[in-house]
Amino acid sequence: MIPHTIPTPAFVVDAAALDRNVAILARVKARTGCKILLALKAFSMVAAFDRLRARLDGVCASSLHEARLGREAFGGEVHAFAAAFSEPDFQEMLPLIDHVTFNSFRQWRQFRPLIEAAGHPIAAGLRINPEHSEGHTALYDPCAPRSRLGIRREAFEGEALDGLTGLHFHCLCEQNADVLERTLAAVEARFGDLIPRFTWMNFGGGHHITRADYDVDRLCRIITDFRARHAGMPVTLEPGEAVALNTGVLVATVLDVVVNEIPIAILDVSCTCHMPDVLEMPYRPRVYRGEAWDGSAVAPAGAEFGGEPGEKSFTVRLAGPSCLAGDCIGDYSFASPLRPGDRLVFEDMAHYTMVKTNTFNGINLPSILLRQPDGTLTLVRRFGYDDFTSRL
Ligand SMILES: Cc1ncc(COP(=O)(O)O)c(C=O)c1O
Repeated sequence: MIPHTIPTPAFVVDAAALDRNVAILARVKARTGCKILLALKAFSMVAAFDRLRARLDGVCASSLHEARLGREAFGGEVHAFAAAFSEPDFQEMLPLIDHVTFNSFRQWRQFRPLIEAAGHPIAAGLRINPEHSEGHTALYDPCAPRSRLGIRREAFEGEALDGLTGLHFHCLCEQNADVLERTLAAVEARFGDLIPRFTWMNFGGGHHITRADYDVDRLCRIITDFRARHAGMPVTLEPGEAVALNTGVLVATVLDVVVNEIPIAILDVSCTCHMPDVLEMPYRPRVYRGEAWDGSAVAPAGAEFGGEPGEKSFTVRLAGPSCLAGDCIGDYSFASPLRPGDRLVFEDMAHYTMVKTNTFNGINLPSILLRQPDGTLTLVRRFGYDDFTSRL
């Protein structure tokens, strides 16, 4: 397929970019001896798993369905964590998992007999809350006041730890190694006396390891030093975003341009259906005009990026086709007006965005394409009416 003729809206994931990310993660593993899992919640594109499974140790799953996907389509170790599990889901999950992390002593006690009768070893651990917050957005801060995520130190009083083998914390979000260092210090300050009772430690996700300014050396030093302090204790990381960071784009076509004080370009990409984090987080995606786009995750030299409103001659609001009045991606400016038929490319849409799409208003889901390392575009999936109706 030729880039400027692909059906839109479409996610296009770039295999070469995934390879680059996973090579960085593999180097962290080699230097520290840690395990790295793919957090499926961030990236579940089965067609890309072939590129990841050889260099990652498995997956972390947040539900029965992710655990099943991990076991059937990815392989390696399957770790599970959820704020709470239902008994039927847990029963079904048992044959699929190697590790499970509980969010309360009550759930551990409830499911311990099932784990012990599972017929294969399942390592059980607890998610802890070190009460150390460096998150800028409360929505993504597991250590925010009254958070339900992770067990605070005071809740350990009087609880038996026999049968449990590890501790897990997940407190970071798109952060660098300095935040991990301070978070780990908080973990050791609160839970340090308990750590020797366990045989593994999971540092969660949120490590932006593949971002250009990420301090990989510092991460490796933190892991190596932690392991040295704790008798070589195995450490696991479970990044999602870092695996798929900057590996895919969402391509849109302008359907119409209406005017209400400023021009408003209505795209075939809906913010609420296809990029809900733009509204939820919220954030402003980077976007460029698609004429010279070659299918890759990296913008072509000279691509015209949308500027701040007023920065270039023509300011335009980019918006979606749904009924939601606030289905707006943001106000951008370009050197010339947008016209129906023009293409736009939104950057860095492979992680979270793809897994969070929905069919509100009956709006079709974006197609999914994979760009092979030789530049060929392969259509992985095109959606239609059945995908809308079969869910409801
Ligand atoms: C328990 C847990 N592990 C791993 C992750 C993956 O985080 P990220 O995609 O930011 O690396 C998350 C994300 O919410 C999480 O909740």
